[in-house]
Amino acid sequence: MSSLLVDNIGELVTNVPAAGGEGPLGLRRGVALLVEAGRVVWIGPARYAPAADRRIDAEGGAVLPGFVDSHAHLVFAGDRAAEFAARMAGEPYTGGGIRTTVGSTRAASDDDLRDTVGRLREEAMRQGTTTMEIKSGYGLTVADEARSLRIAAEVTAETTFLGAHVVPAEYAGRPDDYVGLVCGPMLTAAAPYARWVDVFCERGAFDADHARAILTVGQAAGLGLRLHANQLGPGPGVRLGVELGAASVDHCTHLSDADVDALAGAADADDPTVATLLPGAEFSTRSPYPDARRLLDAGVTVALATDCNPGSSYTSSMPFCVALAVREMRMTPAEAVWAATAGGARALRRADVGLLRPGVRADLMILDAPSHLHLAYRPGVPLVRQVLHNGVPQCR
Ligand code: NIG
Ligand code: FE
Repeated sequence: MSSLLVDNIGELVTNVPAAGGEGPLGLRRGVALLVEAGRVVWIGPARYAPAADRRIDAEGGAVLPGFVDSHAHLVFAGDRAAEFAARMAGEPYTGGGIRTTVGSTRAASDDDLRDTVGRLREEAMRQGTTTMEIKSGYGLTVADEARSLRIAAEVTAETTFLGAHVVPAEYAGRPDDYVGLVCGPMLTAAAPYARWVDVFCERGAFDADHARAILTVGQAAGLGLRLHANQLGPGPGVRLGVELGAASVDHCTHLSDADVDALAGAADADDPTVATLLPGAEFSTRSPYPDARRLLDAGVTVALATDCNPGSSYTSSMPFCVALAVREMRMTPAEAVWAATAGGARALRRADVGLLRPGVRADLMILDAPSHLHLAYRPGVPLVRQVLHNGVPQCR
């Protein structure tokens, strides 16, 4: 069995403080890390490093768990750059452009969609993302939702059925009929390719009754629950997600005290509902950022993700989201790095990624910088020098 040693590490972020690491990131120095069969098998003082078949010299760079991007919409065609330009000139974001992307996605071939998904997945990988959730939601017919998820499943195990993204134009004025389709034939066609079900619970999209109905039948079909909640205004989504035991409620931009209390009240559960913040969306819609400090201070588990999509957040870059979280949301660099790695893993209920200790998947990145601080300190700079995914160095 071939082994790979990563040594000359400047700083190792383990996210395992209990194993003797420093601070919440479990920082360790002077250590090396051994990989075998796609897993981390040993971490210890570099001077005791076992012999290995191959070696990667980290050249004093920081080594971190790969980013876990728990929220992305990669299955689409076309772009909406003109909508972005209009927003930067003062137009608000309403989500109305989703139907534009639905039109181009339905018209695209499988290979076009596959190319886009592959290109964005590789783009994210080059920036350190080793686990990526991918949603459907731009098909909105039985066949187009099923093919979106089939294509997503070719590149990730973390696939999410988002048939309830908006009510498509052909069902305008008949939301109950569309929800019936989502809960019936669409779910049946999508479920074999999906791990999760998601609903855009927002004024103008789906109300709490519709969201509850869709999540309940999705759960009965074996899918885990997640929700787009409280993005564009206050609403019932966050509390509904906590009540139903969703793995994550995402966006959390407009929260009441009751929303924060609900999240904090569930924080001690074995699998608490994570608040996933998506600062790329606030950046790209010129909206106020979510109040991360209020959530963190209340003891809520916070994740960071890109929301990569052609409308509200066309970035695949987790380092960019970390920098935004630190600069604009007053998260400490350590909190932001944790949220982008271990936090994302919690939001996907994964114990095998988002941390580095013997037994977990060898998903990690090596930075061209001595410490995790540089991810926010040097925004916009391509600091990720090498990525290991399942122990395999990725080509650059
Ligand atoms: O998470 N809010 C709903 N869905 C996406 C935006 C989709 C779009 O504008 O195309 C989001 O921001
Ligand atoms: Fe989203």
